[in-house]
Amino acid sequence: MTSAFCLLDDSIVPLAEARIPVTDHGLLYGDGVFEGIRFYHGQPFLLDEHLRRLRDSAQAISLSLPWSDSALRDSITRLIEVFGHGEGYIRLIVTRGDGPLGIDPAACPKPRLITIVDELNMIAEEKRRTGIDIVIASTRRMPPDSLDPRIKSLNYLNAILARIEANRCGADEAVMLNHQGLIAEGTADNVFIVSQDRLLTPPVSAGALAGITRRLIMGLAKDVGIPCLETDLAVCDLHSADECFLTGTGAELIPVRHVDGRAVRRCPGPVFTRLQSAFRDYITKHCQEDNT
Ligand SMILES: Cc1ncc(COP(=O)(O)O)c(C=O)c1O
Repeated sequence: MTSAFCLLDDSIVPLAEARIPVTDHGLLYGDGVFEGIRFYHGQPFLLDEHLRRLRDSAQAISLSLPWSDSALRDSITRLIEVFGHGEGYIRLIVTRGDGPLGIDPAACPKPRLITIVDELNMIAEEKRRTGIDIVIASTRRMPPDSLDPRIKSLNYLNAILARIEANRCGADEAVMLNHQGLIAEGTADNVFIVSQDRLLTPPVSAGALAGITRRLIMGLAKDVGIPCLETDLAVCDLHSADECFLTGTGAELIPVRHVDGRAVRRCPGPVFTRLQSAFRDYITKHCQEDNT
């Protein structure tokens, strides 16, 4: 049995009891950034990469972080210890903090750090094995000159609109196109396809978050000899893919069974299965109990 906790103002409280003022601009305006980090065998996975991205996102929105990496690491370690289970999920959230009504960030003197530990089960186990159904949403990914998708901000409404479309169709997830009609990413994950024995994924410049899992999978593909290419993908590429899967911290690797009602040829396919096992091996190697 596990329970969720929150570290706030240096105290750890059960998540259900954690409270912040309603004047926080994270709540009022989605003004803030966050990271989702999994831990395995009691060890945070790819933490350096997550802390780096948190700092990049914060810098991009002119939010200065008064906490050192080692302070953030300590918070995470404390929460993993109280969680009581070796596997789970950390949500590191930094908001602009409290301020008067009105969006001006300059009126918020002190950012707020909220750190949560919980389970995260985005997809039922059965579907992780058999594959999920996705649709291509009509809601386009925000163009980089409006809100750069590389910034992992607290404002997910763009993705939520796409997810509402998926829900309406009875699908499990939506993939979003960029303003040119090319594949960008899922609502909370990156997209890969296999075509003619090559692994393909859209470049980040197509309008995706620079996914940490995405980058790991591209590296693992190289290690196991699967040719992998970042390239523009059109809707037709997804509709005619030999394999399709999604990656993300929450998602891990999820095979896709249908795209817009069209059956993907192989699900889960051999490339997915190979990478899934390389991913598991990588976790085992890098998150051992004695690996401090
Ligand atoms: C919009 C979006 N794309 C992609 C991803 C996957 O990124 P990562 O592998 O770093 O978790 C996420 C994860 O939160 C996301 O929110």
